[in-house]
Amino acid sequence: MRVLNLTVNGDATEVAAPAHWTLLEVLRYRMGLTGSKQGCDKGDCGACTVLIDGEPQLSCLTVAALAEGHEITTIEGLLPAHLRAGGEGPDPVQEAFDRCGALQCGFCQPGMILSARALLSENPAPTRDEIKAALSGNLCRCTGYTQIYQAVELALAEATGAEP
Ligand code: FES
Repeated sequence: MRVLNLTVNGDATEVAAPAHWTLLEVLRYRMGLTGSKQGCDKGDCGACTVLIDGEPQLSCLTVAALAEGHEITTIEGLLPAHLRAGGEGPDPVQEAFDRCGALQCGFCQPGMILSARALLSENPAPTRDEIKAALSGNLCRCTGYTQIYQAVELALAEATGAEP
């Protein structure tokens, strides 16, 4: 067992877990943050995506101890971060996914939203191909990709005032 000092969703937290546990295991089974999904558990599906220092990372392949000293954001932290930054209502990416019906079973949605959020933070005007590339590590088993890409474009349009 090891005591980890993690900063998750803006809060510094001490959490005890086996030294070999992944960040995904610590988030889900020690911290109760089950928004990050345990899909393939081997880096193929992207369901476990979290942001580490704003970059999308696969938490199933990240040893939790290596996340110490970094800012971790899970889907649960997206709205609070939006509100802390002075935003109102839901995070625009989450709202766009909702408005576009960009989910079927919902399992991939947290990872998709976090990857989309990271893309829009880094590239304020991505093309459809850039959106596809940014989300290529997030698999949707229901194959609802069209609405997902449309949701990212809608979030982008809301942010810029452009036509979606
Ligand atoms: Fe991490 Fe599938 S659960 S990539």
